Amino acid sequence: MKLIVPEFISSIKPYSPGKPIEELEREYGIEDSIKLASNENPLGTSPRAVAAISKALGQLNRYPEGSGYYLTQKLSGRLGVKPENIVLGNGSDEVIGMLTRAFITPGDEAIMPFPSFLMYEIMVRASGGIAVTAPLTASLFPDLNLIKEKITERTRLIFLTHPNNPTGTAIAADDFKRFFKAVPPDIIVVVDEAYIEFVRDKDVLNSVDFVKSGGMVVTLRTFSKVYGLAGLRIGYGVMHEQIAEVLHRIRQPFNANSLAQVAAIAALDDDEFLKETLALIHSGIKYLYNEIERIGLKFFPTQTNFLLIDMAMDADEVFECMLRKGVIVRSMTSYGYPEYIRVNAGLAEENERFVRALEDVIMEMGR
Ligand SMILES: Cc1ncc(COP(=O)(O)O)c(C=O)c1O
Repeated sequence: MKLIVPEFISSIKPYSPGKPIEELEREYGIEDSIKLASNENPLGTSPRAVAAISKALGQLNRYPEGSGYYLTQKLSGRLGVKPENIVLGNGSDEVIGMLTRAFITPGDEAIMPFPSFLMYEIMVRASGGIAVTAPLTASLFPDLNLIKEKITERTRLIFLTHPNNPTGTAIAADDFKRFFKAVPPDIIVVVDEAYIEFVRDKDVLNSVDFVKSGGMVVTLRTFSKVYGLAGLRIGYGVMHEQIAEVLHRIRQPFNANSLAQVAAIAALDDDEFLKETLALIHSGIKYLYNEIERIGLKFFPTQTNFLLIDMAMDADEVFECMLRKGVIVRSMTSYGYPEYIRVNAGLAEENERFVRALEDVIMEMGR
């Protein structure tokens, strides 16, 4: 076989997701492990969403409603934008891919903070584009001034993650306003708000406001995190209708599956599940702050459901040792932090188990 692969594809390093529980148990022969590695909702899925899914199971022989009419209507009412401003995706990942396919041609540039969500770089490079990275500030915020300096004639997209994954830092509304004014009007600014529901600080950016005032901004949101629907794959982008019109040209006709659509509609109405999730996550993060401080490790304050911890030792080794204790965390080596791990808040007993395992690992590694 002679497989001809473009160099810009063969040079891509595949995305490495959090290790699934099933894989860990199969490989290590352990049971009862926990996963705190992919920022998922530890409470499960909204009961209203589960009921809606059960009801829709009898219709799986039919194609989904291709325009996502009812979910789009519901989101439009919630967000105060027109249905024409919304594009659904098979996870917000897919909307990132639609944006790069539509707007990046070989040699075009997209600027992104580093570290941030690794899929931007993969998608940009898959279109033959150049991923221009801008290191975070010393306090681990996206460096908006540096990003501005990196804009060239070839810049088509700018990605911002708000709050940022893996640092948990959120962009202040005023900082974004100043930044956005300085961005040339033909560049699309993509603000990925996958964790926006967890934010506790006031005065942070809500990028949908910039879509409403007609800016070249795309807000990305997902049902994978606070709504507990990661396995169904449903997310969306909010954007100027002219941008949406372009994405609809290249979108697969049934990209948002039928169970995901009904589940998302029901989850949006499940205020109780949302409240319970936020209470659990916020108390979990507080518990983790206290425990990590007691252990004597450095951590970075977060606006999300996850926490970045400086282990001051090899993160891949910590990851491996934690696995053997049945606790899956994420090594941050591929994010440029070879001594940091990222862990998301789980159920109270999962957080306690994580802390116990971490203390054991620190002892074993002789710190
Ligand atoms: C910042 C960020 N954006 C997007 C995603 C992907 O979300 P989805 O499950 O909607 O594709 C993630 C998932 O971890 C994320 O951390």
